[in-house]
Amino acid sequence: MNPSSQITWARSMMPWRGRIAAWSYLLLALWGGAAGAQTIGFSQVGTESDWRTAFSADMQAEAKRRGITLLFQEAGGNVDNQFKAVHSFVERHVDAIVIAPVVVTGWTAALKEAQAAHIPVFVVDRAVDVDPSLFVARIAANFNLEGRLAGAWLAQASRGRCNIVELQGTVNSAPAIERHKGFDTIISQFSDMHIVLSKSGDFTAEGGQKVMEEFIAQTHGLREICAVWSHNDNMILGAIEAMKAHSLQPGHSQLMVSVDGVPGIYQALAKGDANASVELKSDIGKYIFDVVQGYLAGKRDYPKWVVIPSDLHTQADAADLMSAKPEARN
Ligand code: AHR
Repeated sequence: MNPSSQITWARSMMPWRGRIAAWSYLLLALWGGAAGAQTIGFSQVGTESDWRTAFSADMQAEAKRRGITLLFQEAGGNVDNQFKAVHSFVERHVDAIVIAPVVVTGWTAALKEAQAAHIPVFVVDRAVDVDPSLFVARIAANFNLEGRLAGAWLAQASRGRCNIVELQGTVNSAPAIERHKGFDTIISQFSDMHIVLSKSGDFTAEGGQKVMEEFIAQTHGLREICAVWSHNDNMILGAIEAMKAHSLQPGHSQLMVSVDGVPGIYQALAKGDANASVELKSDIGKYIFDVVQGYLAGKRDYPKWVVIPSDLHTQADAADLMSAKPEARN
């Protein structure tokens, strides 16, 4: 109810004491109005990749659009910082807590603290390995499906014969665990497809470049290697730099498949340095706040997992993507 009609409503309810009551009600309402705007604590993983920074920016913009006070805490890739963040959100009596967990383990105590304070928790992007009653819902893509999409694309592109090196994401993180599993589910159907080397590049470009340097040394210049499978685009963009530095031809001498769909990979697809990337949508703030605000407004019939759809992009649609996404043209 807007302020002016609040006054009229108040006046009609309390005639003679009306003026004082009405004004005090107005002050209350204005204070209440401000209080009506929700305060939500968001514990974010860090700034490890272009996808992560795009997701953070979308969350902050969407919160602003909705008049939500977003207490944004970025953990620098350290889950202990996230446990501290949850504790500080509980102390500040926020209306809800949103977590994008660095790793799947160790969350029970922090979520129990929020539950004891009657603060609903929503898990976004990644996953936690806890009793499901400790959070309301997870809003995230299907990482296992992403791995299967990448594996299926490579099986078709290599006609089922391929020695692969794998750039893994952050150890013990849901995307690394599930993308590896999903990819393996598909390639294990093909007797001539094998992951011959696998190591974590921690989802960063620097990590991908460094691990690729090691792979190049271990395989005498990626001899007998037909493909690079990376759990995210930033690591494969780093690997492309390392390969070019060794006069290799990423996208030609080796097939390059990854996940995220960040602007840099669309440029690499257009240049022929990469071959395929599974898109992980980063503009998911609207879905997340729809669920959080719906729940705070009393809606209780959300599925435990609200799945964000995935998509696969190849060189064939790189030009369209570049025109559709201005940030991809920079
Ligand atoms: O949790 C999603 C993953 O986290 C993204 O694929 C990656 O870029 C980020 O580090």
